Amino acid sequence: MEGENGLPKGAHPSFARVIEQKRRVKENLSGIKHKIGIYSAKGGVGKTTIAINLAYAISSKGLRVGLLDADIDCPNVTMFLGMGDKMDPHAPLRPPVKDGVAVASTAMLVDEVKKPIIWRGPLISKMVSDFFEHTDWGEIDYLVIDMPPGTSEVPLTTMQLLDLDGFILVTTPQKIAGINSVRSGLMIKRLNAHILGVVENMSDGKPSSSTLEAVNSLGTELLGCIKDDGRFNTSSDSGKVPVLEYNDMLHGFDEIVNRILT
Ligand SMILES: Nc1ncnc2c1ncn2[C@@H]1O[C@H](COP(=O)(O)OP(=O)(O)OP(=O)(O)O)[C@@H](O)[C@H]1O
Ligand SMILES: [Mg+2]
Repeated sequence: MEGENGLPKGAHPSFARVIEQKRRVKENLSGIKHKIGIYSAKGGVGKTTIAINLAYAISSKGLRVGLLDADIDCPNVTMFLGMGDKMDPHAPLRPPVKDGVAVASTAMLVDEVKKPIIWRGPLISKMVSDFFEHTDWGEIDYLVIDMPPGTSEVPLTTMQLLDLDGFILVTTPQKIAGINSVRSGLMIKRLNAHILGVVENMSDGKPSSSTLEAVNSLGTELLGCIKDDGRFNTSSDSGKVPVLEYNDMLHGFDEIVNRILT
């Protein structure tokens, strides 16, 4: 028998709270046409690099784009972008704009970006859900979300609270990265979210057998390969966006962008 909100009668009040929060998040994000998470349970495969460059590659098509750094305790996006901007912590949070892309990160809410943010899980989850509920993105075409590694707090909260178009799984040619992609993809499926496809990063241009195995075992598609290129490091070390600096790097994202936009 159903009670309020489609919940079974007598369901624990915390279920109703989650459903109510999901409703508020949906309402706050109603001006966003598409939401994409960039994810891998494995650290260091290039999630942040892909999220940033993909956001700017989509923006270069004339679309309105936002970039959310959901790596709450280890935010890197602002450093990659050379942004020193701060956000007024009072809701609604208003993301500053860099080269046409609106960017929000916890790094904009702390005094000193190099200091560690040492928070327990519940606070991290609270912060990420506050971001979803209280950031004013206005009317945009795409929100790209840079996810932290792991299969707990932030990935879980994001998969539960947001109705995303889906997640792009980032992997590298390494066998271990492929195995972790499968692990990441299974989590997404378990939570009834979607996998948009896999990107092989730090690639030689041709997907490795481990990447192809991961793609097949998840029943998804390969969106493209991004080459191992030292300019990703030198560009971001100087706070520049690689795809805005180098045309060939922008074209390296064409295949992925075209698959996403169609
Ligand atoms: N295609 C590439 N070619 C060369 N270097 C790359 C490439 N992609 C990423 N890198 C470098 O690899 C390092 C890790 O990248 P990045 O921070 O994007 O990974 P991540 O998955 O977001 O890491 P974390 O799990 O810590 O969030 C960075 O120094 C980045 O500049
Ligand atoms: Mg990262």
